[in-house]
Amino acid sequence: MSDSPAETDPQSAIDAQGERRREELDDRIFEHNAGDEQEGIPFVGAGPGDPRLLTVAGKELLEEADLVVHAGSLVNSELLEEYCDHAETVSSIGKDLEELIPLMRDAYDEGRNVVRLHSGDPAIYGAAIEQMDALEHEGVPTYFVPGVTSAFAASATLRTQLTLNEVSNHVAFTRPQGKTLTPEEDHISDFIEMGDVTTCIYLGTHAVSETMDRLIEEGHDEEIPVAVVYHASWPDEDVIVGTIGTIGEKLEEAGHRASAMVIIGDAVTGAGYERSFLYGDWANRGEDSEEDTDNEADSETAETPQ
Ligand SMILES: C[S@@+](CC[C@H](N)C(=O)[O-])C[C@H]1O[C@@H](n2cnc3c(N)ncnc32)[C@H](O)[C@@H]1O
Repeated sequence: MSDSPAETDPQSAIDAQGERRREELDDRIFEHNAGDEQEGIPFVGAGPGDPRLLTVAGKELLEEADLVVHAGSLVNSELLEEYCDHAETVSSIGKDLEELIPLMRDAYDEGRNVVRLHSGDPAIYGAAIEQMDALEHEGVPTYFVPGVTSAFAASATLRTQLTLNEVSNHVAFTRPQGKTLTPEEDHISDFIEMGDVTTCIYLGTHAVSETMDRLIEEGHDEEIPVAVVYHASWPDEDVIVGTIGTIGEKLEEAGHRASAMVIIGDAVTGAGYERSFLYGDWANRGEDSEEDTDNEADSETAETPQ
């Protein structure tokens, strides 16, 4: 535990770093690729749980770490045992920025290799950047190392795609109203209304029944498929499949109140899609269609589903 507090109050540091970014983008954006090992404390995505779903870059950094500050029960202890056995490990649960920042800063200043380990990908509901800003403000460089977000693990479990030709053209990563979001900021109903969106709800396991009740009250079709994937990729992974009308009761029976991904939309079943252009008309176009290629390849083929 660190004795010396943060030099700047974390909120002032966050404000100052945000103001700097508004004025000028960080040079490191243009100097490094995602995945590069860089100077400073890496904010690593642990992936959804299975240690094998950690990236190679993340694994290498953990193997070199002296201190790993991790996201508590959201990170599978098997992963910590497998890759961090040699390191000091500290859970960030119950620690505020005032405690976390000096802890990481002092270890870094002492020359120790520090890794901050977030669950899934740190860029999704990770609250990573506020720690990074506060550390940077105290002279400690930081950077991101991406991870597999839980929505991707859940879609793999469900053996489906989150985007599916003629079924779902968009994906929304969202969370339900509660302490953090007001009812006006909760857009789940809007995404369902759009019809061709797969809605992935983080931080909403405890609120599935209420969320579904609201969707029904707002007139949404009760037959729309919903899957809840608890602990995707963990040994105790559990999958509950239903519809807007039935999932609340099914989940209650299963008893999960946290750590699940809720996916709403027809992509849940993987049914009803059309074959893609990529392995159809586009694959068969000849030299004659070069014009199409020029028009579409640059703008679309490069971004076509693989
Ligand atoms: C604080 S958020 C962190 C999300 C994380 N950064 C990510 O990319 O998956 C925690 C929420 O992510 C979801 N989650 C995290 N790990 C999960 C897993 N293995 N299976 C299902 N959902 C998971 C749950 O909805 C949980 O409430």
